[in-house]
Amino acid sequence: MKRVLSGMRPTGKLHLGHYVGALENWVAMQGEYENFHLVADYHVLTTQSDTSDIEQNTLEMIQDWLAAGIDPEKSPIFRQSKIKEHSELFLILSMLVTTARLERNPTLKEQMRDLNLRNPSYGHLGYPVLQSADILLYKGEAVPVGKDQAPHVEISRELARRFNKTYGVVFPEPEAKLTPFSRLPGLDGQAKMSKSLHNAILLSDEPETIQKRMHKAFTDPLKIRRNDPGRPDICLVYTYHTRFNAGEEAEIRSGCESGSLGCVDCKQRCAEAIAGQLAPLRERRRKYDGRPDDLRDVLADGEKRAAAVAQATMAQVHEAMGLG
Ligand code: TRP
Repeated sequence: MKRVLSGMRPTGKLHLGHYVGALENWVAMQGEYENFHLVADYHVLTTQSDTSDIEQNTLEMIQDWLAAGIDPEKSPIFRQSKIKEHSELFLILSMLVTTARLERNPTLKEQMRDLNLRNPSYGHLGYPVLQSADILLYKGEAVPVGKDQAPHVEISRELARRFNKTYGVVFPEPEAKLTPFSRLPGLDGQAKMSKSLHNAILLSDEPETIQKRMHKAFTDPLKIRRNDPGRPDICLVYTYHTRFNAGEEAEIRSGCESGSLGCVDCKQRCAEAIAGQLAPLRERRRKYDGRPDDLRDVLADGEKRAAAVAQATMAQVHEAMGLG
């Protein structure tokens, strides 16, 4: 079975953007591939030195992974900081890439702009090198990510090639697996759904909360009265219908265009469809509510299994390098 390495930085509760951009894909890949799911806690340090919320955020995030249907018996879930080999391979790989190559990374540039950061730290510049170590340690052949992460997977391919050429073949070249909805717009019409922009629907939101949040969603500004004809192609709520309510999509489109469907009803139906799709997640999440120790057990078990693979790879790395 081909191996998949997927990961996320622990930022707490996940939203619909995480789900359609990555998580749903992870679950779909479970039968077909051998999956490793990484909590990229060291990556958090590239943009913040405050570590006080990392543990809580990790537990909330993996509860959402489990709620989405990740089966931890099949697919180990583990923290980067608990497997020392990530740091070790990161160090070796960092010698095989130039700073100029890393400075060209568009994701870094975007982050620097968003965070108003002039001088990235040495570690921040190395973000994709650490990510490459994450992927290559498990010999991941496929990496399910959103579009913004594709440049990082490209760097991991270059590093695999570079290592193999320099020391002997150890690593397969990983391939990015993009999802068609890799970027879900936020409720306010901004390009990206994000908790910090307050435009997100969380996977753990109750149906009433989803209704409330949807009520504020951005729609066609020219559809002012209920019976005004609308333009679904520029409407955010319609975009959500296409993704979460495909069965009613055609009817919603014609209702909006003719003016027979008002925004209030349209939003209500959209919220219902989303709540319906999230119902099985709510059910599975409940099992872990108030049971952080069960979540810690999931990590401990995953970390044992991940460490065995990581150690075997590092032995091959040392052998190829003649470090015996
Ligand atoms: N950089 C990824 C993100 O922000 C998280 C990540 C870290 C990752 N290591 C990884 C993703 C390895 C895939 C594979 O989303």
